Amino acid sequence: MANQIKVGIIGGSGLGDSLHKTFNCNNTISRENAKNDFGYPSSDLYYGCIDGVNIVLLSRHGAGHKINPTGVNYRANIEALRLAGCTHILASTACGSLTESISRGQLVVPDSFIDRTFSRKNTFYDGTSVKYSGVCHIPMEPAFDPRTSEILIQAAKKLGYNIRKGGTVVTIEGPRFSSKAESNALRLWGGHLVNMTICPEVFLAKEAGLLYAAVAMATDYDCWRDCEDNVHAADVVVVFKQNIDKITNVLLETVKIIRSGEWKQDINKLKDLIESSNVSSKD
Ligand code: ADE
Repeated sequence: MANQIKVGIIGGSGLGDSLHKTFNCNNTISRENAKNDFGYPSSDLYYGCIDGVNIVLLSRHGAGHKINPTGVNYRANIEALRLAGCTHILASTACGSLTESISRGQLVVPDSFIDRTFSRKNTFYDGTSVKYSGVCHIPMEPAFDPRTSEILIQAAKKLGYNIRKGGTVVTIEGPRFSSKAESNALRLWGGHLVNMTICPEVFLAKEAGLLYAAVAMATDYDCWRDCEDNVHAADVVVVFKQNIDKITNVLLETVKIIRSGEWKQDINKLKDLIESSNVSSKD
């Protein structure tokens, strides 16, 4: 099965060259050539291979981190990975912690989300592409692929890292951070993490039939915690860079574990779910 698996890796803020080396990337498809029905992906696609598993890397914010969270073409990114033949997506994301129990530098594999974005294309099924025709109401429980998520946790534990299983990530529109009142409201809603990018990525991947899981890195405590410095973009980058090896190693180990599994059933089950969620008449 390993040769039928292809893992797309979406690198968030701060993840770039190190991943290219780790995954032996030696072939590149330009953004222009990866253009699809939804437009241009954020970056070139970098093709690599590790232990016989093919990998496609994509930088969410583009080369030099020039694309802000609202400006990311999430649909073009997911579609580019689908067309590249990916079966899985592993995403990395920097997040603010909304709880005492998640500390700076800690890894979390989220299992649910609250979508607070308001200025993004949030479905493939809007008539843009004939490949996605009809009206699709995709269920969001589970939001993230449970088996792939479990493998991220297994990989981190094997490496001896402190990783939390599960948590709700709230995605805000950005690019500004939350006010203190907003931060406290997100906590009251049950959010454990706050970021600007998991939505709509997670549900577009599901609509596209890709098994998607994310590893989040808590870089700050947003601004709810009276005794802490409030979040600042420069600090987010510093903390993420300090911990970049952890994310890289977890991704690498995860790919190796994915490789040893049989995924046909999972992929077919998701395909069936998508089909049965499309309420438009087929005739
Ligand atoms: N990414 C990293 N920290 C964040 C925060 N506090 N809010 C939103 N996105 C973030």
